[in-house]
Amino acid sequence: MSQDDAPAQDMLRFARLPMAENRTDAYRIIRAAGAVSKSPRGYVLSSSQYVEYALKHPELFSSQRAFDLVGSPLPMVPIAFDPPEHTRYRRILQPFVGPRETASWQPRVASLVGKLIDSFAGCGHCDLVADLAVPLPAEVFLTLFGLPIEDRSQLIAWKDGLLGSPMPSGSRPAEDVVRVGTELFSYLVGHIEQRRRHPDGAEDLLGRLLADVGEDRLSDEELLGMSFLFVLAGLDTVTSALSTAFAALAMQPRLRRQIAADSSVIPHAVEELLRMDGPVVFLPRVASQDIELGGQTIPAGSEVQVAIAVANRDPAEHSDPDEIDLRRRERHLAFGGGPHRCLGAHLARMEMREVLAEWHRRIPEYELAPGFTPRVEWPTGLVGLDTLPLVFPPCAAAA
Ligand code: HEM
Repeated sequence: MSQDDAPAQDMLRFARLPMAENRTDAYRIIRAAGAVSKSPRGYVLSSSQYVEYALKHPELFSSQRAFDLVGSPLPMVPIAFDPPEHTRYRRILQPFVGPRETASWQPRVASLVGKLIDSFAGCGHCDLVADLAVPLPAEVFLTLFGLPIEDRSQLIAWKDGLLGSPMPSGSRPAEDVVRVGTELFSYLVGHIEQRRRHPDGAEDLLGRLLADVGEDRLSDEELLGMSFLFVLAGLDTVTSALSTAFAALAMQPRLRRQIAADSSVIPHAVEELLRMDGPVVFLPRVASQDIELGGQTIPAGSEVQVAIAVANRDPAEHSDPDEIDLRRRERHLAFGGGPHRCLGAHLARMEMREVLAEWHRRIPEYELAPGFTPRVEWPTGLVGLDTLPLVFPPCAAAA
């Protein structure tokens, strides 16, 4: 019997939520179950207040213990650690992914976006997911890590092999997932070893981390765990976020016209689209001790799902929380919070801003292909579309 079929009353059953077509209803159901509720897997936190509390108290809600359950061959740096080890990793990595560093990558990302849009702009139609949202983050990762862009399809195949097979927590990974994981590990090990042997002085992210000779530098094993996590955390998240963002814009002409008319709203549009329909719904944690919260006791060792997507629609924090309003200037939790807050948030935002800017500059009017209704796969790790066929007046390639 799967955990979701376990006999229980008044429990949230994730698989039965109407996530595919109506996240607004799904998140209302989770909220109605309570700020602290039970699922067959453990506990669910849904209010903005408790979600933030959990994320800011890693000594109570452990990420490390949640990742111990996944059974990865090498710990993923830094998500699979709690402070104080985690603090050391963040101190080392933060300067390489901060706002100034990320801004310096903007011209390269803009060029990748431009080339991808060139490939379909003249056709008058595209699959936003296959033609733009999937290849872009893979190309960005390869560029940042100084890896050959020709490896794009292989990288995407490895990522799909790993993330396309969601692993229920506590279970052993299936054989083909292990094989794909080993292939990706070998690929990354090969590149790290080669660049250690023949330092090329390249200014990409991996080159700079390898050139670090400080006492506190990352070991090769730690670099590998980090590179692996960047593939798992940095590709599908951006793909999914772009897919739901463009679905919303295609269905709401008023919003896309605001963006096309005034590119200064784009940074706010990125935040609001992520708040409203961000790709990450739950963050996994394990209670390190008995925790009293919301009048309930969460026993030590319980699995806790921290529902950031539900907190992002908490009416106590956001007025009209289920409406996309590009004038909103409120904080949201789509990138998490506390010590594990997304390390790639500046990069993700920049990728999304570049796509929205270049797309709307060239393709201000577009809509869903006739007869297409966006539906996300559920239950999966992330909220995102597998396909998003769009139609628009054909336009010329960029000069
Ligand atoms: C729209 C895109 C993205 C979203 C919505 C997103 C969301 C998140 C969230 C919610 C967390 C917190 C996880 C937790 O607390 O358990 C996280 C962590 C992380 N993300 Fe992202 N992410 C995105 C893109 C990226 C990108 C592009 C990268 C890397 C290139 C990245 C790298 C990471 C890493 C390394 C962590 C772990 C941080 C830590 O444990 O300290 N993410 N992300």
